[in-house]
Amino acid sequence: MSFVEVKGARLPRIGFGTSGLAGAACTRLVRFALDIGYRHIDTAQAYGNEDAVGRALAETAVARADIFVTTKIWTSAFRDGALQRSVDESLARLRTAYIDVLLLHWPNDAVPLAETLRALAAVRASGKARHIGVSNFTIRHLAVAIDGHGADLVCNQVECHALMRQEKLRAAMRRHGLALVAYSPLGRGQLTGERTLGAIGGRYGKSASQVALRWLVEQDGVVAIPKAAKEAHARANLDIFDFALDDDDRRAIAALPGNRRVIDPGWAPDWDRD
Ligand SMILES: NC(=O)c1ccc[n+]([C@@H]2O[C@H](COP(=O)([O-])OP(=O)(O)OC[C@H]3O[C@@H](n4cnc5c(N)ncnc54)[C@H](OP(=O)(O)O)[C@@H]3O)[C@@H](O)[C@H]2O)c1
Repeated sequence: MSFVEVKGARLPRIGFGTSGLAGAACTRLVRFALDIGYRHIDTAQAYGNEDAVGRALAETAVARADIFVTTKIWTSAFRDGALQRSVDESLARLRTAYIDVLLLHWPNDAVPLAETLRALAAVRASGKARHIGVSNFTIRHLAVAIDGHGADLVCNQVECHALMRQEKLRAAMRRHGLALVAYSPLGRGQLTGERTLGAIGGRYGKSASQVALRWLVEQDGVVAIPKAAKEAHARANLDIFDFALDDDDRRAIAALPGNRRVIDPGWAPDWDRD
């Protein structure tokens, strides 16, 4: 496994996404993922599975210190005080003393960002989070948080894959020195049958999904967190470190449509304005 290193944080390049996994099946899959070599687990308060993930963390033979755990604070807990209490609840569910990187799940313009960032920084200062970051932040939100409020963030977790390449946001993130954690790196399954990716994979004995993940992790500062309920998928998504894309492959991917957003809930910010 290789890592992205940012401001003292060391993020394993492939993480295990857990959105949509719950209960005993989630515990079993997270344990399985750790058994086969995943060392980065992505959960969130909103997924309702921190408890199931916590069971896996408690049961696994892998040392807690070797696992990079991400959770995300839901927008209803962005007020000072509420945020810290919600993190205490997450820690109890996750059966851990600290989160490796604690994220704000979505921007929430109804609460002053300065207040939320102060509370987030207080959690880090208490040792309950090693690092802090954000998710679904636009260029404008990043500028307000970092240039405006001096937030010391390590990453922004956003939708990013071969059909949603985030070129403008990435340029802004490079300026801020942030890691990009690519969520829905398989376009929630839509990339698994993509013909160009499949043709590239054919030359290396890899699937379209593996090419999609390889394309992400070959880029500076990029981490991918595919979700897999099927064990074969979980294995395949780790098996991407024994081949490399060439310039022709990258050109073919760059020629695909690059702005096909899959995740766009009602509470999303105005992506294009920002
Ligand atoms: N911060 C945010 O707002 C946010 C939003 C969305 C997601 N996320 C995070 O990102 C993670 C991943 O995103 P996602 O769950 O939306 O979608 P994804 O990882 O892009 O796609 C998951 C889908 O792809 C399938 N799949 C996985 N590996 C495969 C393979 N090797 N071959 C063929 N199919 C494969 C899975 O099938 P099976 O499950 O049947 O194996 C599932 O249907 C989430 O679990 C979550 O942790 C964060």
